[in-house]
Amino acid sequence: MPLLSVKDLSVAITRGADSFPAVDAVSFDIEPGETVCIAGESGCGKSLTALGIMGLLPEAARVTGGQAILGGEDLLSLPQAEMRRVRGERAAMIFQEPMTSLNPLMKIGRQVTEPLFLHGRRDARENRRAGLQAMAAAGLPEPEKLWSMYPHQLSGGMRQRVMIAMAFITRPKLLIADEPTTALDAVSEGQVLRLLGELSGDTGMSVLYISHDLGLIRRLRGRVLIMYAGRFVEEGPAESVLTHPAHEYTKGLLGAVPTKDGKGKPLANIPGKVPAVTDAKAACPFMPRCPSRGKICAEMPPPRVAAGKRGVWCHFPDAEGVRGL
Ligand SMILES: Nc1ncnc2c1ncn2[C@@H]1O[C@H](COP(=O)(O)OP(=O)(O)O)[C@@H](O)[C@H]1O
Ligand SMILES: [Mg+2]
Repeated sequence: MPLLSVKDLSVAITRGADSFPAVDAVSFDIEPGETVCIAGESGCGKSLTALGIMGLLPEAARVTGGQAILGGEDLLSLPQAEMRRVRGERAAMIFQEPMTSLNPLMKIGRQVTEPLFLHGRRDARENRRAGLQAMAAAGLPEPEKLWSMYPHQLSGGMRQRVMIAMAFITRPKLLIADEPTTALDAVSEGQVLRLLGELSGDTGMSVLYISHDLGLIRRLRGRVLIMYAGRFVEEGPAESVLTHPAHEYTKGLLGAVPTKDGKGKPLANIPGKVPAVTDAKAACPFMPRCPSRGKICAEMPPPRVAAGKRGVWCHFPDAEGVRGL
């Protein structure tokens, strides 16, 4: 049974009385211990998908449909208080910029153990023990020494490890990591990736990893969901999808040199850019940019052309990619 089962999740951005779909009925499962990556250019709806599942959407966004079943409960229909309990116990999330998520005035030790206190675990000595252990598991050197330091005294890579320790301290079954290495240098990035792999391997924790960087996703060796304009266009084992892409968008992403923030540079081999949420979209949202488009692309792509573990939503999937399917 999957750990998390997302069915037809839709998220809309509201502007005044208007509402625009930003995530359009996406469905996927995550098995226990599995790493699943969502990839796509900036603005494709990756973060809103994650935030929707976690009940952390910004003011301007709201879930307009679907389910996200974790341990038999639909997270999307839980009241806020219940959702806080889930976030502290069974699911945790880390973000791109640890400094904005860490409290600059709170010492590291207190910060790492905060989720325990918040969930009623008040035994300070026991929490300290758990905190030091989580920090060690997150690869922080000399946790005892870091315990009474403040976030600004740490490097970006160390701060992200503090975030991971904090997320990991309740031993969540699911960790969602939204571009957690984007603010880090290449060395820290490699360390954080390895660490997430180890934590997941050692404890069976499932990871939903979000990134615009396919090179990095290949290194995670999980399953990948390629997202474009609020929908999935291709899915499958990362190695297979990235070696034999079936969708023109995946090919375009592979041809692009990722920038650190995923913004800016257009895809080298594909003209145009990601539509804004307010733009009207074609049946296949990628059609206007697609080099293989045909007349039929004005109609919805087939629900999912699938073979083995691969899937693609396209009228004209790449022949070689399809063989790889
Ligand atoms: N708080 C917000 N207010 C208005 N629009 C938003 C907000 N958050 C996201 N959006 C819009 O929703 C779309 C998807 O955003 P997001 O999920 O953050 O993309 P990604 O994480 O893939 O870069 C984008 O077009 C973005 O501009
Ligand atoms: Mg994002």
